[in-house]
Amino acid sequence: MSNCTWNFEGKIAVITGAAGGIGGVLAELLAQAGASVVLADLDRDALDDSAKRLEAQGHDVLAMQVNAADAQSIDALIAQVRERYGRIDFLVPSAGIYPESSVAEMPDDQWRRVQSINLEGVFLLIKRAIPLLVAGSAIVNLTSVAGHRGSRNHAHYAASKGGLIALTRTLALELGPQRIRVNAVSPGIIDTAMTTEARASHGEQWVAATPLGRDGSAQEVADVIAFLLSDAASFVHGEVIHANGGLFMAG
Ligand SMILES: NC(=O)c1ccc[n+]([C@@H]2O[C@H](COP(=O)([O-])OP(=O)(O)OC[C@H]3O[C@@H](n4cnc5c(N)ncnc54)[C@H](O)[C@@H]3O)[C@@H](O)[C@H]2O)c1
Repeated sequence: MSNCTWNFEGKIAVITGAAGGIGGVLAELLAQAGASVVLADLDRDALDDSAKRLEAQGHDVLAMQVNAADAQSIDALIAQVRERYGRIDFLVPSAGIYPESSVAEMPDDQWRRVQSINLEGVFLLIKRAIPLLVAGSAIVNLTSVAGHRGSRNHAHYAASKGGLIALTRTLALELGPQRIRVNAVSPGIIDTAMTTEARASHGEQWVAATPLGRDGSAQEVADVIAFLLSDAASFVHGEVIHANGGLFMAG
């Protein structure tokens, strides 16, 4: 449960990776603040569960199974949003994967798959969403501490997230004149399914390297995203906000 309260009545929010840890908590936060939420994820069952839960609370939800790496799938998502709402106020591409391999042993197709979901997928979505993004709207991308510092055994992931930082800043230059704000959140180690395996094998080292001495929660990332989407951040543009308990600074 968030400690923050927002009023997002009438806003249309599109979230990919919406059945995941961060995307799921964000969807609930935005819906509870009054937004209509478009939930997009590859995982049909998890998506249905999230949609049913939010609908049972009385929220306006559109759920669609989408492959974030597939242009036709994104076209279909944007067409649905255009037909039902005709606009987008908030866009949060949160779909991502985090496989583990050293560069020396990394299969070429694993490298390409990470880029296609984590980086190209964000380009595919934002490019297609631009005609629906209204003046005063906001995009928040999900990068990572790995995108700033690199990450042993996750070169593909780190490269995709570094690319997202450059994409975020370029979009801020191009879309600012249309009053579309573009920022990114850069989480550290967050307690979601994405990091379950990695935290089991080297979680203790990560926590020891984090000055706050713990992992973060999906809620703590969603709260930063909500701030960046909100009018409280109306002059924040082209920025990457860290949420990592001090891990980046201390490293
Ligand atoms: N958890 C962390 O520690 C952490 C840290 C830094 C950045 N991030 C980033 O935050 C975002 C959300 O991560 P999370 O922790 O919620 O992860 P998660 O694994 O809980 O959720 C990711 C979601 O993306 C979906 N997804 C994967 N491939 C997809 C595809 N091709 N098309 C559509 N959906 C797809 C999955 O089904 C899942 O629901 C990711 O971009 C991740 O890289 C997470």
